[in-house]
Amino acid sequence: MSLVIEAATMADATAIAEVQVASMREAYEGVLPRSLKEAVLEPGRIESRARMMERWLGRARVTTFVARDAGHVIGFCTLHPVRDDPEQPEVGEIASLYLLPECWRRGVGRSLCEHVFEAGRTRGFEEIQLWVLEPNTRARRFYEAVGFEADGRSRVFFENGTDVVRELRYRGCTSARWFATRSRRPVGGESYRDSTDRGGRQLATTAARLDPAACPLRGPPGPA
Ligand SMILES: CC(C)(COP(=O)(O)OP(=O)(O)OC[C@H]1O[C@@H](n2cnc3c(N)ncnc32)[C@H](O)[C@@H]1OP(=O)(O)O)[C@@H](O)C(=O)NCCC(=O)NCCS
Repeated sequence: MSLVIEAATMADATAIAEVQVASMREAYEGVLPRSLKEAVLEPGRIESRARMMERWLGRARVTTFVARDAGHVIGFCTLHPVRDDPEQPEVGEIASLYLLPECWRRGVGRSLCEHVFEAGRTRGFEEIQLWVLEPNTRARRFYEAVGFEADGRSRVFFENGTDVVRELRYRGCTSARWFATRSRRPVGGESYRDSTDRGGRQLATTAARLDPAACPLRGPPGPA
């Protein structure tokens, strides 16, 4: 695999939508209530998501990065200023991060996140936030592994009679020093690796190396 991560263009809109729908189908199977899954994955979703992506790609303050393998879009991540509080220009938000299922667990998500943190730093974001569905444990484990922390805030994402799905807020600091200590990566590991080299890798223990002073996150975690 030859991984390239770069800013998306309008020409990527449909490929991004296809990645998102394929990724959601696999990720939410057995995880979300059927009523919500059907709403998220309704027929015609690729077309409508492609149009939505075109609108996002046209916005100056929104940047979508794509991961390409041999020129094909295999994943993407969208970054913009935080939506909850426009008074916080130093806080960015990851709006979406999706990879084709066949590319999961091969280091591509980590590479995309590293790229986004670097881009966020360049844009003056000290912190990056995101919301993740509570039952999406795969994504939560991923975000925790690359340096995000749940801050205790949660909100209802979907409610339909007996089905209630909440989402949780995660925060990460873009400080290079903080990121280096928080992000668990294989010792001596490169940012992309082939799935064949998974055996026997040793994870750096982060707890001992954490440097809270490196992260100037403002204020205590918000209320639930
Ligand atoms: C979440 C997602 C982007 C992660 O990308 P990825 O390329 O699979 O993740 P990586 O291979 O870079 O994993 C980095 C680390 O995250 C953790 N991680 C990733 N997937 C994990 C899983 N299924 N279970 C536990 N930990 C996991 C591991 O610590 C991993 O490091 P390791 O492989 O050295 O152990 C990808 O799984 C995806 O597209 N999921 C569906 C879409 C989705 O849920 N997006 C989030 C919406 S908020």
